Amino acid sequence: MMKLIARSLWALTGFVCAGFMCGGDLFAQSPAPLIQNVAARKTVSLNGDWHYLVDQDDEGGSRRYYLNGKPYGNRDFVEYGFNTAPTLRVPGDWNFQRPELQYYEGTIWYQKTFAYHPPPGTHIFLYFGAANYRARVWLNEKPLCEHEGGFTPFNCEATSALQDGANVVIVSVNDTRRREDIPSLTPDWFNYGGLTRDAMLIEAPSDFIQQYSIQLDRANPRRIDGWIRTSGSSPTATIRIPELKVSANATAGTEGLLRFSIDAPALQLWTPEKPKLYKVEIGTATDQISDEVGFRTIETRGTDILLNGRPVFLRGIDIHEEPVGRSGRAHGEADALTLLGFAKELGCNFVRLAHYPHDESMVRTADRLGLMVWSEVPVYQGVDFKNQQTLARATQQLTEMITRDRNRAAIILWSVSNETPKGADRDLFLQQLIKTARTLDSSRLITTATNQTNSTEAHKKVFDDPIIPDLDVFGVNEYIGWYEGVPADLDITTWATPYNKPMIVSEFGGEAKYGSHGSISQRWTEENQEEIYKHQIAALRKIPFLRGTSPWILKDFRSPHRNLPVLQDGYNRKGLISENGERKKAFYVLQKFYRELTAAGVRGR
Ligand code: GCU
Repeated sequence: MMKLIARSLWALTGFVCAGFMCGGDLFAQSPAPLIQNVAARKTVSLNGDWHYLVDQDDEGGSRRYYLNGKPYGNRDFVEYGFNTAPTLRVPGDWNFQRPELQYYEGTIWYQKTFAYHPPPGTHIFLYFGAANYRARVWLNEKPLCEHEGGFTPFNCEATSALQDGANVVIVSVNDTRRREDIPSLTPDWFNYGGLTRDAMLIEAPSDFIQQYSIQLDRANPRRIDGWIRTSGSSPTATIRIPELKVSANATAGTEGLLRFSIDAPALQLWTPEKPKLYKVEIGTATDQISDEVGFRTIETRGTDILLNGRPVFLRGIDIHEEPVGRSGRAHGEADALTLLGFAKELGCNFVRLAHYPHDESMVRTADRLGLMVWSEVPVYQGVDFKNQQTLARATQQLTEMITRDRNRAAIILWSVSNETPKGADRDLFLQQLIKTARTLDSSRLITTATNQTNSTEAHKKVFDDPIIPDLDVFGVNEYIGWYEGVPADLDITTWATPYNKPMIVSEFGGEAKYGSHGSISQRWTEENQEEIYKHQIAALRKIPFLRGTSPWILKDFRSPHRNLPVLQDGYNRKGLISENGERKKAFYVLQKFYRELTAAGVRGR
């Protein structure tokens, strides 16, 4: 029907609906299957300056901006242009590159010309680490693919659209929030729009290694199992770990995968204290790649979390994807090292990457630094639980997150939501995401952060959210001492749960403006935040089924809901460090707690 309307529109006006405005999906090209481990590939970076156009009326589709200035229909002129337009740097959100774009929410068109000579017989993809929130990609005027979701990668099949010599790539990105999206309308973080992560061409052989899984056999920690999916019909593959002098052949198994097992008796397991990574080489007759992989098991037993069969206590901190000392979205290894460096300084062995999949460099850096990771899709608070398309969006983002990071030992928890309100539709929605996660990856623990507690009695917390039985570990967000009561209330609070499962306090804290000092009862002073942390930590020590904590949050971060002049100025100030990396007094309270836990050994009571 939409196509019929679109054709008739074209006949009448020379315009055709192809943009978000019309909703018609003339474009509707899905990305190619996600390519894992792009760092191992031959790539051509498209990072750098891209020309851009602000498209406030979202009319670029119907005005065919993707024709890069070529007139069409019954006109011999156009009213837009790229080649003399200003530029935005990619990767990078648009909000903090141009003052006039700071609060812009809508569509921006990006354009980049590049010279390229496609190697013969090469399968070429156009890859984006992320585009927030919905992107449509054209190459040399041809539609390549579209993607929705602001925090996961996608790659478009580009081989036939590329020219030998000059090429033009045009991408429209729209970040208008919609109730039916994931996240929905009012997340407590800044809506950074644009091509926020790397852009590149990927050059792969005609038949290449698309995805693979390589995990320790939970039942036998000296045995490695896995599978390989190739883009073509390679009948076998080889896997070798040179340092261990072991290798195996992968042969055709179920679901069109090549499956393998490797006995590795001398394997050193990955731990936060010794984050051992092995070079793994995977090859077929037409493709060879390598990856750096750690091997460990993660499971629960009653209220214990077991890393490599031993109980572990997660000494964590929550982190949003914002850099220290500059505005915008964090991206790349340098930002990852800075943020995770603060976590290590705190004495962490764990980080919760809130509330969405972070740049791949964050999880690869966590692999190397020995930080266990909670990775989460932005099913944040109230989403449209009745909407099947919303579920499809969440499922797609969950699938892309797991596909990208399934071989990172650091990731121990997949989280399917944060603070969603109880209800039958929500439970069903989450249960379907949990099922998808378990189907995609049976090697990790599934969790969610809930703030749904039954607290009919004052100072008594009962964690009985009905979704908890479907989880392996449950996270609880509680703000006693900030949103609820005063810090001293924590001293008389009791904690219970009807479920025999490990609990993580996945958020607690309070706000403080760095350098603001006063009495311990004065909000937004460092002393008040310090007092909250002291009482929270004393309370956490008394919870018998607690197996970790990740206070909210490492760094003050931008949010549209935090507009108290002088004290907030657009920032949520629950950080232990300011946006410029200045450590507040509470930073040292948490650091002291974690040092004591470390000295106390595994369980850390
Ligand atoms: C919630 C939520 C966070 C938010 C925090 C706060 O728990 O999960 O995203 O920033 O509270 O209110 O500061």
